[in-house]
Amino acid sequence: MPRETTLSLRQKKQRGEKISMLTAYDFPSAQAMEAVGIDMILVGDSLGMVVLGYENTLFVTVEDMLHHTRAVTRGAPNTMVVADMPFLSYHLSVEDGLRNAGRFIQESGCQAVKLEGGRERVAVVRAMVEAGIPVMGHIGLTPQAIHQLGGFRVQGKDLETAQKLLEDARLLTEAGAFSIVLECVPASLAERITREIPIPTIGIGAGAGCDGQVLVNHDLLGLFSGHVPKFVRQYANIGETMRQAFQAYKEDVAAGRFPAEEHCYTLKDDILERLY
Ligand code: KIV
Repeated sequence: MPRETTLSLRQKKQRGEKISMLTAYDFPSAQAMEAVGIDMILVGDSLGMVVLGYENTLFVTVEDMLHHTRAVTRGAPNTMVVADMPFLSYHLSVEDGLRNAGRFIQESGCQAVKLEGGRERVAVVRAMVEAGIPVMGHIGLTPQAIHQLGGFRVQGKDLETAQKLLEDARLLTEAGAFSIVLECVPASLAERITREIPIPTIGIGAGAGCDGQVLVNHDLLGLFSGHVPKFVRQYANIGETMRQAFQAYKEDVAAGRFPAEEHCYTLKDDILERLY
């Protein structure tokens, strides 16, 4: 299957075809996603929480993200890969944001970047798009502003904040974003935004009215032992499978049942005898 592009994703929206997106941070997960034809892979800065064990995403660096994005683009060479720009990599100035976005494209092999925020990001989004870098917006719950938002909570619940989100979606579209993530917003508001803008919305905790959906891979797999949000559907319990396998291995080693004969390399009979 050919890799999705900013254009093909917009055409999907026009045809009413839903877009699937998942986060990945490593080579084998990316391979598995490409094998089943996931439309887009996001190397999310959720990396910080589900892989690196930080309490939020604020500790993730550009170098962390580049390292993991390279693994993902190697695992999914025919899938559109979006790299999440981490905290402070696009906040200081338009020039700095553009330079960092360029690093992602040049040094990781991804096809697009994502950044959080609405009206306050218009200038940097425009500069990236003018430089030929596809940008995915992200509004609603923006985890890099967690301290400002006062926690992981649903956004856009009253008239003022709902209006602000709708306007932010319009402004990001005008600035040239090719798609927008809507995180933790009421389903009816996400549906209204989706109807209003020509670019695809990708929802996470934003209901079925979005043009596509994204989930954090570790939540979907049941691999993350922290809090699992209400909007997640767990398709597997890999964390439990992993614990069972580790337990069985530990017991086999302790009891001398592993390794067995079939796991061993052999030496020709006479060699041992000839050792001195
Ligand atoms: O970092 C991430 O995984 C994300 C998704 C939740 C959209 O930004």
